[in-house]
Amino acid sequence: MSSISNVSENTPHLLVLGMGGTIAGLAPNPEENPLQYQAGQVGVDALVAHVQSVVPEGVKLVSRQVANINSRNLTDANLSTLGFGVREALLDTAVRGIVITHGTDTIEETGLFLQATCGKLAQAQNKRVILTGAMLPSNAPGADGPSNLLDALRWASTSIDNCPGGVYAVMDGRGCMAMDLAKRHATALNAPLQNAPSSSVGLINPSWLSGVKAVQSAWSEDLPIPEASEWPWVEILTSHAGARPETILQWLGSAVQGFVLAGSGHGGFHDAWVQPLDLAMAQGIALVRTTRTGAGSTLLNIPELDLPGCRASGSFTAPRARIALQLALNAAKQANKAGKPLTWQDFFARIADLPEIR
Ligand code: SIN
Repeated sequence: MSSISNVSENTPHLLVLGMGGTIAGLAPNPEENPLQYQAGQVGVDALVAHVQSVVPEGVKLVSRQVANINSRNLTDANLSTLGFGVREALLDTAVRGIVITHGTDTIEETGLFLQATCGKLAQAQNKRVILTGAMLPSNAPGADGPSNLLDALRWASTSIDNCPGGVYAVMDGRGCMAMDLAKRHATALNAPLQNAPSSSVGLINPSWLSGVKAVQSAWSEDLPIPEASEWPWVEILTSHAGARPETILQWLGSAVQGFVLAGSGHGGFHDAWVQPLDLAMAQGIALVRTTRTGAGSTLLNIPELDLPGCRASGSFTAPRARIALQLALNAAKQANKAGKPLTWQDFFARIADLPEIR
């Protein structure tokens, strides 16, 4: 991670971690075609310099480039580096809060990852970690990045209506828990928060806040961050009309450790997959069912009895369930090494059974 700063790192400050994304994007012809651009082109120091003159009085900023990528290319190693960097900053007494500029395409994955690995620590240290991004590149007319970054810096730095330390996201004037992010629109300025329970960043909604506190009191222990080379291999497979057994059978004998099924309706899958999935599970491949519908919950034994050992994802979407399964497989491996007989299902349940904010 390279570090750029206008203050000594011992002075109390907000830390801005840059991951890239459209917020750091550049369009060659921004006036004619702002949506044809390259993400991850502008350094986080320049994004911070752009808003520096309007940050709240007395707030010092330090920026650090973790990656500068289009987030569709996010890797396991990127998540490890970010997670360890966030943990280190949460423990650093000079850091008052953390803002992360990130691409919106996979901000959903990073949001759940940070909640599951740093959520308790953020709460205990009483610091806010805020993810933000943009839907328009930095040089587009009406670019939304600067106002999103400014809102995130304000949310991270001020004691807003008793909003506790934790992992949040801010975009288009609204804030939500980072674990509730899900980009469900290709272009809307609020795409990652469109379906998330959220609050205005100006005036915190008390019922949203009580939902946040319910989630936080149920989240008792952060899961370990996998080292870059230790992430379990988990694939998302979508059930659809005309699904073939080969889609599952081709994985048998590979090193894959888990499947997340994006099923139809309640999270069901094509009958052509029943026998191949039995074989996969007999081989030790972990199985989680989700729904491809984009909303609602996937529940155990609904609509039919589940294969033994299969977990239903609750309200988790397939991308979130995939991160949860990776972290759960890794946590179970670490626990077993330490002589604790816990399974991936035990760890998965801790994340997926958290209360939902309504
Ligand atoms: C990305 O995810 O890096 C590109 C898209 C975006 O940030 O909106």
